[in-house]
Amino acid sequence: MTLIKNIGELVGILRAGVLRKQGAEMAETGVLRNAWLAIEDGKIKAFGKMEDVIPGSDRESIDAQGGMVMPAFCDSHTHIVYAGSRDGEFLDKINGLSYEEIAARGGGILNSSDLLHETSEDELYEQSIARVREMMGKGTGAMEIKSGYGLNPADELKMLRVIRRIKESVPALVRVTFLGAHAVGRGYTHEEYVQAMVDMMPQAAEYADFVDVFCDEGFFTVEDTDRLLAAGAACGLRPKIHANELAVSGGVQVGVRHGALSVDHLERTTDVEIDVLRGSETMPTMLPGSSFFLGIPFGRAKEFIGAGLGVALASDYNPGSSPSGDMRFVMALGCIRMRLTPVQALNACTLNSAYAMGLSDITGSITPGKRADLLLTRPGWTLTKLPYLYQTPFLRTVFLNGQPLE
Ligand code: NIG
Ligand code: FE
Repeated sequence: MTLIKNIGELVGILRAGVLRKQGAEMAETGVLRNAWLAIEDGKIKAFGKMEDVIPGSDRESIDAQGGMVMPAFCDSHTHIVYAGSRDGEFLDKINGLSYEEIAARGGGILNSSDLLHETSEDELYEQSIARVREMMGKGTGAMEIKSGYGLNPADELKMLRVIRRIKESVPALVRVTFLGAHAVGRGYTHEEYVQAMVDMMPQAAEYADFVDVFCDEGFFTVEDTDRLLAAGAACGLRPKIHANELAVSGGVQVGVRHGALSVDHLERTTDVEIDVLRGSETMPTMLPGSSFFLGIPFGRAKEFIGAGLGVALASDYNPGSSPSGDMRFVMALGCIRMRLTPVQALNACTLNSAYAMGLSDITGSITPGKRADLLLTRPGWTLTKLPYLYQTPFLRTVFLNGQPLE
């Protein structure tokens, strides 16, 4: 057993069985001051107040010295398997080109697809696992990783193999999403490409947990999405959709209709999308890192919450629209730019993001029996300081599955 003692603030406490938070619940989290927490067999065993009796001996005890303990971040939307970099496009962007203009010139996703094609599988793994290590070091304990830079069956499978290899080699929890329909691959007509992705669905399903489609203006239509999600469902893949980033796309509606676990981006939504999401099992997921980087609107998180919905936040870590996987910065953007309270942002970056990967029964909160995926901060930190002092180093130890990260 490992015991963490003298915790100044233990935040993110939740009773067992709550899989997500919605509406007013987003503003709630269990907090215990001056606390201890016990870890056994990789799981949270128990917690309590220092003045109460602490079970077990002091073997392997860690003195938190008044630091905060919180759940590790969950990042339900990333594209971290990619080759090389798109720093040339960064200069185009500075010079005034939009994301759509860069894509229309053959840059964007197609540029990453060309680079990925030329890169060996081992090299792709090495480049990608470095990002995963960086994310874990910054406190992410569970992450979703998408394919979508292959853009032909062979290269999509190469990406999926790399994601599986990552999943098998890191202490973080990894969920795999097949995003063949990210852009039309070179050499295909639009129709041929959609058909090719439908045809490879059974093969993709050997690796993937979820199916995703970039359902947005200039990429894939609602009809394409319908077909791809139906093909995914036939192989047991639940949808997670890219919707309403570039336009009001209909992606929310088609996603909810297919029982999507999440619909993501949502920078451009009307009250119609809010109504469609109400009463569904779908987690609206917003990606403030891409709003920040692209200079597009931030999602209307407060209005979603006001309408009784839950909101998850994720990094969207990718080379084109969000070149950062720092969930503490995502949390800060949630507070600073979307005006979420620190507690709402915490729930969005932990429990709700875990829900958006189907993992909230095993991680994402301080609940006995869940995996001990925890962050121990340096002394003096509180939940509010985390997004406020948004660049000051705060982490002391990241525990994943009960083990401190080396
Ligand atoms: O979520 N919007 C589509 N896909 C990514 C961007 C991918 C890229 O530009 O490489 C996103 O923003
Ligand atoms: Fe994305």
